[in-house]
Amino acid sequence: MGSGQKLKLVAAIKAYLEAVVDESPGVGEVLSQINTLTLDPGRMIHRRPVPPAHSKLLDVAIAGIPGGRLAGIAEALPAVVDLVEWRMDRGRFYEDPREIGDDYTNGNMNCELIGPEGNAFHHPDFTLGLFFMVPRILYRDHDHIPPELYLPLNGPHGWRFDVGPWQDLPAGAVVWNEPEQPHAMRTYDMPFLAIYSWPHDVNNLCRVVQAGDWGKIERELLS
Ligand SMILES: [Fe+2]
Repeated sequence: MGSGQKLKLVAAIKAYLEAVVDESPGVGEVLSQINTLTLDPGRMIHRRPVPPAHSKLLDVAIAGIPGGRLAGIAEALPAVVDLVEWRMDRGRFYEDPREIGDDYTNGNMNCELIGPEGNAFHHPDFTLGLFFMVPRILYRDHDHIPPELYLPLNGPHGWRFDVGPWQDLPAGAVVWNEPEQPHAMRTYDMPFLAIYSWPHDVNNLCRVVQAGDWGKIERELLS
């Protein structure tokens, strides 16, 4: 059932977070939740695999993971892709799904490795997994009650916080969204692939934060 491969990926993610624990307050919070688990193959969850809807682009995203500190994750990830359930967020995680936009709902995928629906380990109030977006789309501004960690595995991709100026962040940069802090992302030619985590309060929905410039950004990304 791929216990060894999934365990290797979780261990590689944990090792990366341990290496960057001083770079953001959120990393320690996520690590302390991982450390509540017994990372043993006998405790592992196996869900029925569902192939990724954007499988070719996912391959491109994985090929774009640089070496260096991310090499362990890059090495472990390909063997896990076909062993897990890939989902598309069609607005299930939003208070008003219509506001998040068609580009996002058609262009995202996620895979929960740890959490209530984890493919590797179960945790009732902690999620950690993989998050993907196709090239040249905007993930509109939104917020949520729990804090959130992102570890982009490739890049650069565009980010903005509190509906402020855009900035490009590279692979490996830790992003920590404080509770209820609005954030948005945009992709360029490289599909987006990241580790995500909500360390607690996972039974909350996201809320779209109105910004006024989505149409302009979405048109620019397509031109
Ligand atoms: Fe978020």
